[in-house]
Amino acid sequence: MRTARLLCVLVLKRNNMAKSSSPKTKAAAQKSPAAFTGTETTAIAASPLNPSKYAPGQRNNEPGSADQEKELMKLFTSGIKDIYWAENQLVKALPKMANAAGDKKLAGAILDHLQQTSTQVERLEAVFELLDKEPQAQKCDAMEGLTKEAESVVESTLAGTAARDLGIILSCQKVEHYEIAAYTGLIGLATNLDLLDIADLLTQTLDEEQSSDQLLGNIADDIFSGSNNKAKKP
Ligand SMILES: [Fe+2]
Repeated sequence: MRTARLLCVLVLKRNNMAKSSSPKTKAAAQKSPAAFTGTETTAIAASPLNPSKYAPGQRNNEPGSADQEKELMKLFTSGIKDIYWAENQLVKALPKMANAAGDKKLAGAILDHLQQTSTQVERLEAVFELLDKEPQAQKCDAMEGLTKEAESVVESTLAGTAARDLGIILSCQKVEHYEIAAYTGLIGLATNLDLLDIADLLTQTLDEEQSSDQLLGNIADDIFSGSNNKAKKP
């Protein structure tokens, strides 16, 4: 099992060597980390809304210190465990959404994203391997809530209606937006922790989430305009 996972890491790493030199990947890895450079510390300390606990000289984890790096690594690892739980939850939830969708294009898009999600789970297992840790899930309350909400949308709409399909799209886009926020933050942390191989892996997933979000939006437009096929095959 461990050998298979290691092979997976090596394949992913090899793929990344080609990708890491691409301007797109570098740009993606560089676009978000500004929030974690430490420059915001000054702004926080200067804010009248923040008490003296953030005043200069009172922190034991100043930017660039070993303490800060340790804390950021803890935050990063926790975020990876959280999104690992979330992706696994989606592997269970997406087939129900595809089954409930009446629009053929929507059902197909959800099933395609299910395959991507399985790959994203493997990618996170590769991240754990690069961190020299066993894969571990930490319950993501946000994703649990989002998938429950999606189920209640299905329960409260009639099968085969535009309302059902648009409700499913709305729920799936909420999920995508959560994932986009999570991966963007994790890429910023990984980049600042100099975990560039990991940042590249997470960027691949971020690209997929953004494409999926866009595709769902396009399908919603088609449903609104009535240009989509009316129903999927039984
Ligand atoms: Fe995902």
